Amino acid sequence: MKNTVVTFLQAKEKGDKLTMLTAYDYSTAKLMDEAGVNSILVGDSLGNVILGYEDTISVTMEDMIHHGAAVSRGAKDALVIIDMPFMSYQASVYDAVVNAGRLMKEGRGGAVKLEGGKEVCPQIKAIVNAGIPVCAHIGLTPQSIHAFGGHKVQGKSEEAARKLIEDAEAVQEAGAFAVVVEAVPKKLARLITQRLQIPVIGIGAGNGCDGQVLVYQDLLGMFSDFTPKFVKQYAKVGEVMKDAFRQYIKEVKSGAFPAEEHEYKMDDDIIEKLY
Ligand code: KIV
Repeated sequence: MKNTVVTFLQAKEKGDKLTMLTAYDYSTAKLMDEAGVNSILVGDSLGNVILGYEDTISVTMEDMIHHGAAVSRGAKDALVIIDMPFMSYQASVYDAVVNAGRLMKEGRGGAVKLEGGKEVCPQIKAIVNAGIPVCAHIGLTPQSIHAFGGHKVQGKSEEAARKLIEDAEAVQEAGAFAVVVEAVPKKLARLITQRLQIPVIGIGAGNGCDGQVLVYQDLLGMFSDFTPKFVKQYAKVGEVMKDAFRQYIKEVKSGAFPAEEHEYKMDDDIIEKLY
């Protein structure tokens, strides 16, 4: 069944948990789609896990469009949400609408995601008014990592918790169809989830949310630079890949690969004439 912003809202009403994973390329998106994930997020985490930057600040619109379009080609039923990269929406409402439009037209996403609470509500309203669904992202918002002073849990004090609740209500009021809540205590995320009519997708926010999202390299054990506490590793694909790479190197060096079954044939009399 095709997942849309409407099915997202219906899932919240029915109490069905939503699943979201990040992807950045066609073949991974296709596997996730076939596995039945509700939504694929083309996260600007591609800056970290694909491009090797230490944060998401340098990710460009061109990066997001390039990877967004690849994922969109691979996802048949999953709702593809494409991240708006740093400085593609913060400076003005005009930038926000134009760049969200590019992610839809050129990246072929079904929705866009942007980071922030009250301060980005004018942008959310304008993008939604242009007919583009918006997923908000509050809590630990990686594009503001330098302002936070690192990867820190958000909303622990009363003041910070109240601000997060207000931000969640504000983005809902501005027209967001869902909100990602990152790195906040479980009890606060559950309270936000209860207060909102739109689905709350948690990452490092406990199991009281309407759904969960993870970066797939974390889930598969393919990224070792930095592993947050909230990650569960479902497989050790990184080890499987390294073993396969080592085996390949060994067999090429020994001549065991390629073997006869990997070769193309031709008539001996033709080859003899060439000597
Ligand atoms: O960029 C990303 O992958 C994200 C998720 C961590 C929610 O925003």
